[in-house]
Order: sequence, then structure tokens, then C-alpha cells
Amino acid sequence: MSTPRATAPVFHNILEMIGNTPMLEITRIDTGKCRLFVKMESMNPGNSIKDRIAVTMVDAAEKSGKLKKGGRIVEATAGNTGLALALVAGQKGYRLTVVVPDKMSDEKISHLRAMGAEVVLTRSDVAKGHPEYYQDVAERIARDDPDAYYVNQFANEANPKAHYETTGPEIWEQMEGKIDAFVAGVGSGGTVSGVGHYLKERNPACEIILADPVGSILTPLVNEGKTVPPGSWLVEGIGEDFVPSICDLKLVKKAYAIPDGEAFHTARELLRKEGVLAGSSVGTLFAAALRYCREQTEPKRVVTLICDNGAKYLSKMFNDFWMVDNGFIERPKYGDIRDLIARRHLEKEDYCLTPDLPVVQAIKRMRMFSISQMAVIDEKDRVVGILDESDVLMALVRDRDCSARPVRDYMSSRVETVRPTASVNDLMPIFRADRVAVIADEKHFYGLITKIDLINFLRKQL
Ligand SMILES: Cc1ncc(COP(=O)(O)O)c(C=O)c1O
Repeated sequence: MSTPRATAPVFHNILEMIGNTPMLEITRIDTGKCRLFVKMESMNPGNSIKDRIAVTMVDAAEKSGKLKKGGRIVEATAGNTGLALALVAGQKGYRLTVVVPDKMSDEKISHLRAMGAEVVLTRSDVAKGHPEYYQDVAERIARDDPDAYYVNQFANEANPKAHYETTGPEIWEQMEGKIDAFVAGVGSGGTVSGVGHYLKERNPACEIILADPVGSILTPLVNEGKTVPPGSWLVEGIGEDFVPSICDLKLVKKAYAIPDGEAFHTARELLRKEGVLAGSSVGTLFAAALRYCREQTEPKRVVTLICDNGAKYLSKMFNDFWMVDNGFIERPKYGDIRDLIARRHLEKEDYCLTPDLPVVQAIKRMRMFSISQMAVIDEKDRVVGILDESDVLMALVRDRDCSARPVRDYMSSRVETVRPTASVNDLMPIFRADRVAVIADEKHFYGLITKIDLINFLRKQL
């Protein structure tokens, strides 16, 4: 630590730790003529900016009498707001029901349940107005329960109020009143409206800049006044197919539409260069902030947000294979069937077994890497067998002490070798027989192709 810091305070309730997040100046990434600062909202106790609004919205509901002691909070969200409400509900003795569309990851659902929330799953393939649309389900649950309060962050005035009263003033003080631009995304619109109003009141020249995913309707609306049909995007928590009622877009000077790939690569760069582990939407915000900074011809002081922590994206955008599988990292192409191999052996991306390895270790690896078959290779790097789930199952059922015995005793030595020059059609008989294709020639083993690899390859071409 270079500068001495005041002793960190001792708190007596975790909710007291919400807000007063630190500001970090970006120093290792090119910010053009500008100085770029990021406010570390990921350091809130619930790991996101949404802790702020959860406290304010629950407080407001208590004060208005809509939420009674021991009552039930209901919200439709799959993201950070659910976790933040779970934190507040847990501390204040409320039950929380979160309605979640069924496309959400198991990890997120487990996290909500671990925090004590009741999770109601609904369909993710239906739009507003359908009885199973997640927001409509939440509203109905709340309507049918006299003890319940439906939070609805998209139309809740206490949401922008939280940012007007806390995030905005904190930014102003940390920047010592010298701030030329603030870059943020719109999920509910609370941040842009609350922080935007506060900063504009203090300095009308301060520019509010929108960071938006490509596919969201907001960028064409802000930049050209155009209403376009919504598309789709992968970053989570921001981007819209409608304008939420609390979102004041008049504050916004300019919007940048950032493609998912640029957002993910930017978030990865932010981690490697500045050490900041941030969520996917931060990639969008930070990419927009960088574009803005690099376009300026005069030095400016710019602030953006690290809205949430990136730990929940370790298996997604921070994972090279996920990036490759989703087309965000291009690998050199062979121009033949080897391009279907998901984990390339020569690049050491795959997990293999050796014939002498005890079966128990093979099972551990299969579970750890969530794979259902592995190549067994000899000392010359040639495939001598395949061990798959059914081999393991047979071994466990038939032979009680199989675990210490070597993989060679249970692997299938019938290996379906396919040369790189083969065609996709040559794979079909192998898949029909429920086997995997081993891609190899005289020189090398290149990797396995399974049915799911072919499905993914064909899906990417759609
Ligand atoms: C993960 C995430 N959630 C929410 C927001 C903004 O939220 P809201 O518009 O709901 O205040 C952002 C960015 O500004 C974000 O990155």
C-alpha cells in the first residue's frame, strides 16, 4: 500500500457496509487524453450496486406501510437485485420470493436459495402479457398474498432515489466536484436517472453517457430518436426492449452500442491489466467509457462503475473455452474436420488418461471437468482406448474393487479413428453407434469429436 489509509471501520450489521465504495483510477489501460475512474460497486456486501436500491426500496415500503413486519417481499429478477433483496430481507426478518425465468444458471439459483430466498421458476420463452411471464407471475403472487409486497424495481421511485442520495453524492465528493462525464448502463434506469440528476444539478455541463449492448432499443432512441425492434445480447443486467418508467433518458447526451464480444474482451483486459474482476455488463460500461475517453480532444475526468463482481462469470466470459465455443475467440483454422474438435490435443486443451491410472482417478477427472468420455493415450501419445461413463458404470456395478485397478482393464479398445481429411458424413455411423470419433493420422492425435461437438459446430453456423 503506497499511501497510509485510515483504519477501516468496525460495523455491527452487514447492511451498514452498503455504499461508500472506493474509487480506482485506471492507469494501465490507454484512456486517451482523459483520466478514467471506476467506482467499485462490486465491493458492496452483496457484491453489486443493487445493494443500495434494495435497502432504499425496502425502507420506503416499510415507511409507506406496504410492507409489514415479518411480511413477504416479492420481486421478478434473476440477477443482482434478487441477491441484494435477499441480503436485506435476511437481516430485517422478511421472507423473499424471487421469480426467475428458467434460462438462468443453476449457480444463480443456488446462490439465491443459499441466501434463504424462495425461488419460483417460470418460462423464459414468453413475452410480457403471457400469464407465465416472470414479471406477471411476481405481480400475481404479490396480489394473491395480503402480506406480500411487489418491489418492481423498474417502476419503483425509491430506486433512483438511492442513487440520487448515495451513489451520486459519493461520486461528486470522491472526484472533488471535478467530473466531466459519467458512463453507465440502463437495467431499470435507476442508476442513470439518480446519479444523472444529482451530477447535472451540481454541474449542468457534466455529460451522462449511456453504455448499451448491441440489440438494446436504447442507443438508437438516444442517438437518433428512433424506435427499433429489440434484438438479443448476452451481457447481463443492462440493455432494454422497453423504456422503464423511472428511466429519464433526457439526461443522456450520447449512447454507445457495444457488441457482446467487445464487452467480454474488455472485461478480461480490465482483470489482467488493472486486477479488477468485474461482471459482463461492466465490460459494456468500460468499453463505452474507453471509446468516449479516446474520442475526446480535451483532457476530461470520467467516471464509470464496476457494477458487480465477476466471480459468477468464471465459467463464462473468463473461460477461454466458453469464449471459443461462443465464437468470441477465433482459433487458427485447419480448414478440415479438425475444426470441429472442441478441445485440441496438440494445444493441450483436452484432458486425457493413461492406461495405468487407477479408475478412481479417472472418475474424479470426469466429474471435475464435467466430461463423459476421455481418450486413453500411451507414452507415444497415441490413443489406445476410450473410457466413457458407461465403462465406468459397468466397472462400478460389476467389480466392487475396481477403483484401484487401472483404466486399461475397463476402457474400450475399439477406437474409431478418423483422418483429418474425412467429411462430416463419415462421422455419422460412429455417432449412430453411440461412439466418439478419434481424429488422428500417422503423425498425431488431434482430439475427439463427440455428438455435442458436432451440434455446437452446426449451431455456430446458423
Ligand atoms: C450488472 C448491472 N446491473 C445494473 C446496472 C444498472 O442498473 P439500473 O439501470 O437498474 O440502475 C448496471 C450498469 O449500470 C449493471 O452493470
